[in-house]
Amino acid sequence: MKEIKIESTLFVFDSLSELPKDVVYLMEKAVEAREKAYAPYSNFNVGAAILLDNNEVVLGSNQENASYPSGLCAERTAIFYAGSQFPKAKIIRMAITAGSKNKKTTKPIPPCGACRQSIAEYEIKQKAPIEIYFMGETGAIAKSNSLSNLLPLGFDKSEL
Ligand code: THU
Repeated sequence: MKEIKIESTLFVFDSLSELPKDVVYLMEKAVEAREKAYAPYSNFNVGAAILLDNNEVVLGSNQENASYPSGLCAERTAIFYAGSQFPKAKIIRMAITAGSKNKKTTKPIPPCGACRQSIAEYEIKQKAPIEIYFMGETGAIAKSNSLSNLLPLGFDKSEL
């Protein structure tokens, strides 16, 4: 038997003022997207903004459904749109913000497992890391330099 330890690195910024202007801009776009979320069942609104290497910014918000599993998270709405509209473009970074109508979200809220798996697919496809910034409505912002830091031991095409 051997023990394997898995390490991961994240960076945490206390406020947006610590971030470069272009990242703040992307997070502002994520807030715009969040405000367009359709989340009447959970009251949990999520917005995602993606910067591509062709300078396009693609937005997505969560879209819920009366048949709950038919809804989709903000991150996948955005990344599938980016992949379908700009299949050759590389994703440079993604900004995510989540807020609840029921309580104030004041800490970084990471993407769910299914979204991490979906983002991982594009990181592997483009052979370049995707930076991920995520936050609540207010408070600290967390940054991962690559999706792989958020999904250690990920499943990918090399297993097929
Ligand atoms: N949600 C996202 O949009 N992204 C995540 O990473 C986590 C969850 C959405 C899905 C659902 O509409 C609501 O938040 C509550 O789970």
